[in-house]
Amino acid sequence: MKNVEMIELGLHRIRPWYFSPYPQELVHLPCIYICEFCLKYRKSRKCLERHLTKCTLRHPPGNEIYRKASISFFEIDGRKNKAYAQNLCLLAKLFLDHKTLYYDTDPFLFYVMTDLDERGFHIVGYFSKEKESTEDYNVACILTMPPYQRKGYGKLLIEFSYELSKFEGKTGSPEKPLSDLGLLSYRSYWAQTILEILIRLKPTGDSERAQITITEICELTSIKKEDVISTLQNLQLINYYKGQYIITINRETIDSHMKAMEKRKIRIDPKCLHWTPKD
Ligand code: COA
Ligand code: NA
Repeated sequence: MKNVEMIELGLHRIRPWYFSPYPQELVHLPCIYICEFCLKYRKSRKCLERHLTKCTLRHPPGNEIYRKASISFFEIDGRKNKAYAQNLCLLAKLFLDHKTLYYDTDPFLFYVMTDLDERGFHIVGYFSKEKESTEDYNVACILTMPPYQRKGYGKLLIEFSYELSKFEGKTGSPEKPLSDLGLLSYRSYWAQTILEILIRLKPTGDSERAQITITEICELTSIKKEDVISTLQNLQLINYYKGQYIITINRETIDSHMKAMEKRKIRIDPKCLHWTPKD
């Protein structure tokens, strides 16, 4: 049951989608005012203004591990920055239906993506990641703030999560269940990433066909095997021919892929990632 009428976050007024356990004395108000930098919440604009005179943060806490043009990523440890992490979860829950809210943020890292202008580093979206996942999850929750949705930022968050997995030398997959919008975004990312590799393959040795194994696709992309296989099946690229599996891509698929890639203007540049996995 949705409980919060409206939030104000920086210059944005946003109508929440789902329930989130903000304090009882705030949820009956017409609007909750949230500091866009530290994510603390206040009951009125006046209270927020008072807070802003004291709050010196102009970016998320933690380490800035990536910057290219105006896009940055900050890595926040849920144990070291507990208040921020809890406030981020509370804010995110407004737009996440089925995820349980973790009050215990200790086991998670949070990767917050920001857009920089003269006023500061504005939160665009984030994903959380278990410090240790027994099931190879590389994302727990993922969210693009509603004013920024449908502009390609979701895919940028997903691309970044796989870049981290590449640095770790692992494959990964998002935690299940995924929401409808989450599944749409992942399917599209997987399809584009895999097609990008297949289209550029060159025939090798004395074969007139280009060759690649599923395992090689996994290694190149850090996408988990099941997700690679389901993507190839969804795209209907796998055929069984003269005793072996072959991938055939028709012109139409290539053309629509090329067109879709032109729309992906902002990409993650691995050279701009300054990060070493902790273990
Ligand atoms: N309707 C139809 N398609 C949509 C869509 C919508 N409302 N929102 C996104 N998509 C599709 C886009 O068309 C795009 O595919 P395409 O490039 O092949 O066209 C793909 O999903 C990704 O779009 P993008 O703009 O990169 O994503 P986004 O910034 O809107 O973020 C989510 C995607 C999932 C992070 C965002 O919808 C969100 O935060 N949702 C709420 C939280 C959630 O459900 N998280 C996942 C839970 S596991
Ligand atoms: Na999620």
